[in-house]
Amino acid sequence: MNKEILIICESMYHGNTKKLAAAMARKLNCRLLNCEEASSENIEDYKIIGLGSGIYFTAHHPKLLEAAGKMNNGQKAFIFSTHGSPFLGKYHNSLKTILDKQGIPVIGEFSSRGYDCTGPYIIVGGGNKGKPNENDEMKAARFVNRILPQYCKGTDTVHNGHNVEIRYNECIGCNKCYAVCPMKVFEIKDKKPIIKNEADCTHCSLCINNCPEQAISIHHSLKEAIAIAKRHARRTSL
Ligand SMILES: Cc1cc2nc3c(=O)[nH]c(=O)nc-3n(C[C@H](O)[C@H](O)[C@H](O)COP(=O)(O)O)c2cc1C
Repeated sequence: MNKEILIICESMYHGNTKKLAAAMARKLNCRLLNCEEASSENIEDYKIIGLGSGIYFTAHHPKLLEAAGKMNNGQKAFIFSTHGSPFLGKYHNSLKTILDKQGIPVIGEFSSRGYDCTGPYIIVGGGNKGKPNENDEMKAARFVNRILPQYCKGTDTVHNGHNVEIRYNECIGCNKCYAVCPMKVFEIKDKKPIIKNEADCTHCSLCINNCPEQAISIHHSLKEAIAIAKRHARRTSL
């Protein structure tokens, strides 16, 4: 677990922003707290803090603004949000003003549309249905990868010359990868997963997404991906 980065997220409406926060926390392998949880933490112990919430009346949640007010100069921040209306406007400005006053640099900003039933959306039964979706979560993960590449785990490259890799220095032997893999790629040996049946891996990423330590990488070249598709095209059931 990364001890230098913390994400604080207040997601009081539909849990929209928390979806992005969770994707970022997975990519950074760092802690994710809401504002109340963060208030009982020493947030000054972290080098970088990600601050995110929905946008409510053109600004981040007041509790998040309060949390930002407790940061020290010497720390860095990144900001994210979800918003209902079609454009972001100056919705990050209140938070940025607080950070600026404390001399805290903002190293990046990210925002996605989020499901919203307020205002004009009342008439149509809600706007941005299904948002943020998986694609937005992927974009959120790519955002932290772009601004903090040194902290992100390379979940899409392998170093063992194969297609699937388990980093045993990080694997805690929870064996969730074994449990979720529909293709039986893994086997358990001495209470830990081993890769048994790599050729059947469809790159579905269920193992990566369920690994609490982000200890698994999968990589297929384009040629291999085409070969997988061809091989599995002949299957008629799991
Ligand atoms: C009380 C309230 C006020 C809102 N004000 C705005 C706004 O000013 N601009 C906007 O784009 N969206 C606004 N929204 C929509 C939310 O920003 C959007 O639904 C967001 O995804 C909610 O995030 P959450 O589920 O993480 O709380 C508002 C929503 C609520 C409930």
